[in-house]
Amino acid sequence: MQMHIEVSGLVKQYPLKAGLFARSRERVHAVNGVSFSIPKGQTLGIVGESGCGKTTTARLLLRVVEPDSGVFRFEQVENVFALPEEELKKVRSRMQYIFQDPYNSLNPKMLVRDIVTEPIRYRGNVTRRELERKAAELLEHVGLSPADSKKYPHEFSGGQRQRISIARALSSRPSFIICDEPVSSLDVSIQSQILNLLIDLQQELGITYLFIAHNLAVVFYMSDTLAVMYTGKIVEMGLAEELYRNPLHPYTRLLIKTLDPEARKDPLVKNDSGEVPSLIHYPAGCTFFPRCPRRQPKCLEAFPALETKGLNHQVACYFPGQEKGNE
Ligand SMILES: Nc1ncnc2c1ncn2[C@@H]1O[C@H](COP(=O)(O)OP(=O)(O)O)[C@@H](O)[C@H]1O
Ligand SMILES: [Mg+2]
Repeated sequence: MQMHIEVSGLVKQYPLKAGLFARSRERVHAVNGVSFSIPKGQTLGIVGESGCGKTTTARLLLRVVEPDSGVFRFEQVENVFALPEEELKKVRSRMQYIFQDPYNSLNPKMLVRDIVTEPIRYRGNVTRRELERKAAELLEHVGLSPADSKKYPHEFSGGQRQRISIARALSSRPSFIICDEPVSSLDVSIQSQILNLLIDLQQELGITYLFIAHNLAVVFYMSDTLAVMYTGKIVEMGLAEELYRNPLHPYTRLLIKTLDPEARKDPLVKNDSGEVPSLIHYPAGCTFFPRCPRRQPKCLEAFPALETKGLNHQVACYFPGQEKGNE
């Protein structure tokens, strides 16, 4: 299948915040060799606990932060990470983003009209009338009223603000949108409206999504393919349905069990320490070891490679598969 997005070997370490004695060379291993690809018009979901490197992955693709290494093939561009600033600008209009917090991501001093047309105003050759018409059209497209274009962000609810963020993302006619926890800060009752809007837009416009969330139910709802991330690595990846029916990594199994109130009584969930190892002193072996019901001495030797276990299904575990007996 023709891939629209191909990311390989993505790595990012942050220097630790400089303290009083800023001699430390210690680094946070935020993203630790992540690779994935997305066919055009499809959604790859990334799920994982807070701090596992989801947002860093998004920021790297947008080149808000520069990667230590990695390749990002996007449409005709062999490697977005190697593009000089001038050429990057052209690519950026094809690649947009929607972030978690619709309160802080919209400039409170700007009219909605100017916010939603911001990505296209820099083109220079657009008249004021055209911008106004475009703003009205964009707002209607996301279920708001053209009259809203003369209001300020504070006049809207969280869900409406997220619609404004979506309108802004759509304005430059992107083919790829990165959604980083787009509904996490919204009331549950509003979440599905925004998710359904994103799905409708994808069907209508053929947009490819990278959809990031810590809520597994939300990610399952949105994704064709799902990547489960832990301590900066993808530990399992596959078709969303397949992963749900047949999770192979103990961490994926744990996440799925926590979805179901009945299954929360399961010892796998009840006995889980929730302990995530330090991303500064990254251990040699598997980082899930302290929490793993299947751990063996071998797991301390090296982090297991992501291996193919079935059609479109990969897992990074020495002892993958169905739980047995005492788990
Ligand atoms: N700018 C930064 N400087 C230093 N450490 C950072 C920075 N941004 C993120 N981190 C660290 O990188 C790790 C991954 O963070 P992040 O990508 O935000 O995770 P997630 O989005 O999955 O919650 C965390 O340990 C976080 O503290
Ligand atoms: Mg995040």
